[in-house]
Parts: sequence; structure tokens; C-alpha cells
Amino acid sequence: MEKNPFDELAEKYDSWYDTKGKLAFAIELQALRPLLNNLPQPWLEVGVGTGRFAQALGIEIGVDPAERLLEFARSRGIKTFRASGEVLPFEDSTLGTVFLLTTWEFLKEPVQVLKEIYRVLKEGGKLVNAYLDKDGKWARSYIEKAKHGHPLFSRARFYGYEEVVDLTRNAGFKITGTISTLFQGPGETVVLEEPREGFHSGASFVVIIGEKNE
Ligand SMILES: C[S@@+](CC[C@H](N)C(=O)[O-])C[C@H]1O[C@@H](n2cnc3c(N)ncnc32)[C@H](O)[C@@H]1O
Repeated sequence: MEKNPFDELAEKYDSWYDTKGKLAFAIELQALRPLLNNLPQPWLEVGVGTGRFAQALGIEIGVDPAERLLEFARSRGIKTFRASGEVLPFEDSTLGTVFLLTTWEFLKEPVQVLKEIYRVLKEGGKLVNAYLDKDGKWARSYIEKAKHGHPLFSRARFYGYEEVVDLTRNAGFKITGTISTLFQGPGETVVLEEPREGFHSGASFVVIIGEKNE
């Protein structure tokens, strides 16, 4: 498997959630928690990283190509597999919900990952894709950092809402909901935000919910 820059920055990456990213993470969780009751089990996170979201949301299984990150996720009680979203180690129609949580922008082959997620979901299963919208302040700041050679963000590609919706529909999903949050930018995130239904321009953290509906 190709070298993953997240592996080399594992500690630094993980500590973001307790420091600079603490309030942003709390805002993101606040948008995701109300969805949980309606999501069929079992749950998998693709791009589980160090397991921060998975632990906070009760996602039991995670895959990621970065072994160092998976060590953290394991220590947080997540059952992990070293794998990429493009080739998932699960049988057809076996999972209830698959989450992508700020992983979408790092996928080299998002279309293939959507196809794989569709394959492993049961009929009526859900995709929860929380991505950083290209027009939000957080993605804009990361795009600037990428221009200066940032080791992680220079590998990312940030998308707009319509593009993510089109790709998700083309993979066969029916879009059943959208949530927007995180309108404050990096360095100015000082208060908790209530999530808003639908797509709202300027949101950094956008959650698109898809359903496998054959
Ligand atoms: C910004 S991190 C998000 C991590 C995680 N959701 C968390 O709670 O910490 C992006 C993650 O995507 C993973 N990733 C990159 N390419 C991937 C791929 N093709 N399939 C699955 N995960 C991938 C990275 O290794 C990294 O863990």
C-alpha cells in the first residue's frame, strides 16, 4: 500500500481534536448526533483515522489505509481493518450504515469508494458523508495551506455541494437529507452552533445522507 502522510503525522493529527479543533469537533458532533437513531446497524466508518468520530458516535468498525492511525482507533475500542475505501473487506449487502467523516476530500477515487459503499450496504442502508465544503472558511484556509505545500492538505481535493450530490446519485443513492454547520472559520470558532437542515452556503461541515434504494 502507498505511503500515507497521515501515518507520519499521527500524534499531531490526533491532538488537533483536543486543542485547536476542539470546538469545531464539538460542533460537528452536534450535527451528527441527532441522525444516529435512524441509522441501521451495523455501522462502519471508512477513513476511521484515529477513531475520534467513531468513538464519540459509537461506530463499532473502521477501515483506514494508515496503520499508525488505526493503532489509535484500536486503543479507542474500534474494531479496525487496514483497507482503503476503494476495496472494502466486507461481503455484499452486509452493513446498515457507512460513514465518511471528513474523509471524502482525501479520497483519490471517490466514485469507486461510493460504488464499494453501495455494494456492502444492505437494501435501505445509509451513507452518511460529512465533508468539508470548498466554499466554507475551513476548506478555504486548507486550500491556502495546500498552496504552501502542507503535507496533508496538498493531497486533498475540496468539493462543492452539487458535485458531491451528483456523484452520490450517480452511484445509485437516493439523497434523503442534508445538514449544514460550522459557519465560523479557523481561529474564530468561539461558540457552539446549531446544525441547520439542508445545504446553506458558507457552511464548512456539510452532511449528505444517502440511501441504497434499488
Ligand atoms: C481527515 S482524516 C479523517 C479521520 C477520521 N474520520 C477521524 O475521526 O479522525 C482522513 C482520513 O482518510 C483516510 N484515507 C485517505 N485515503 C483513503 C482511502 N482511499 N480510503 C479510506 N480512507 C482513506 C486517511 O488515512 C485519514 O485517516
